[in-house]
Amino acid sequence: MNIDAKTRLCGLIGNPVEHSCSPFIHNTLSQILGINMAYTTFKVEKGEVETAVKGAYALNVLGMNVTVPHKQEVIGGLREIDELAKAIGAVNTLVRVDGGYKGYNTDILGLYRSMVEEGIALEGENVIILGAGGAARAIAFLCADKGAKRVYLLNRTVDKAKEIAQAVNHECGSDVIVPMAMEDYKDIPKESYLCIQTTSVGLHPNDEDVIIADEAFYEMVHTGYDIIYNPYETKFMKMVKAAGGRAFNGLKMLLYQAVAAYELWNDVTVEKEVSDKVFEVLKKEMGIDD
Ligand code: ATR
Repeated sequence: MNIDAKTRLCGLIGNPVEHSCSPFIHNTLSQILGINMAYTTFKVEKGEVETAVKGAYALNVLGMNVTVPHKQEVIGGLREIDELAKAIGAVNTLVRVDGGYKGYNTDILGLYRSMVEEGIALEGENVIILGAGGAARAIAFLCADKGAKRVYLLNRTVDKAKEIAQAVNHECGSDVIVPMAMEDYKDIPKESYLCIQTTSVGLHPNDEDVIIADEAFYEMVHTGYDIIYNPYETKFMKMVKAAGGRAFNGLKMLLYQAVAAYELWNDVTVEKEVSDKVFEVLKKEMGIDD
C-alpha cells in the first residue's frame, strides 16, 4: 500500500480496538480495488465520542466505523441518521455528508447480505432469536422489517427480551416478536425454525459451551446462524448439524458489514468475486483452515 498526500483515511473508534480485523478487511479491499484509502483504529474513551467525531470531520476523515461501547453514544454526534439505524438505536458506520456524518447500521446490512447469499429467507419465516443484547435487538428489527411470520426472542434475563419486543412491535405496529425466558424454550410451538444465536455463550475460549444443551430443541431448527465466528464451528452449530440442520457462523456477517461500509464511503459496488477473495485471505489471516 502506498500512502501519499491523496490517501483518504477511514478508521474504527471503540475501546478496545487493537484486536480488530476491520483494518485487515478494509486495507485488503483497497489493495484489490486499487482505491487510495487507508484504514486504522482509534481508541476512544467514553464521553469523548462526540469530540472524536467532530475532530474526524475537521481532519477530512472520509468515514468511520464504531464499535463497542460507543454504538449508542455516537448517535449524539451525528448530522443525520439512516431510518433503520435510528429504529435499531445503534450506529456502526459514519459516512461523511455536508457538515458532519450520517450514521448507518451496516452490522445488520451485513447479516442480511450474508443470509441472502446463503439462501436464508426471513419473509414468512418462523424465527427463534437466542439472546437480547445489542445484536439481538438489531436482528429482531431486521426480522420484523423483512416480514418474518413469528419471532420468539429468548433471553436469560426475560425483562431485556420484553423491552426489545415492545420496542420492535411498537415501531412496526405488530406483535411479531414474542419475548420468552430462555428456560421456557420447550413452550415454543413445534414447528420448523431459523434460529439465530446472539449470546456470548460458546465464544472462545469456552468453545464447548452452548446456550441450550438439549438435543431435542435442535430438531425444530432447519437452519442455525451463530453470530460468533471464533471458534469457526461453535457447539451451537455442531448441535444444529447433528440434528440435520444447516449451520452458519458470523464471519460472513463481519465481512459484509465492512463491505457495506466500504461501498458507502467510496461509492462503489464490491462484486461477489472480490468479497470472496477478501474472505479467503481473512480466513488465512485468522488461521482458519476449513
Ligand atoms: P451483544 O451486544 O453482542 O449482543 P451483549 O449486549 O453483551 O452483547 O449481550 C449478551 C447476551 O448474551 C445477552 O443476551 C446475555 O443474557 P443476559 O441479558 O441475561 O445477560 C447473554 N448471555 C451472556 N452470558 C450468558 C450466560 N452464561 N447464560 C445465558 N445468557 C448469557
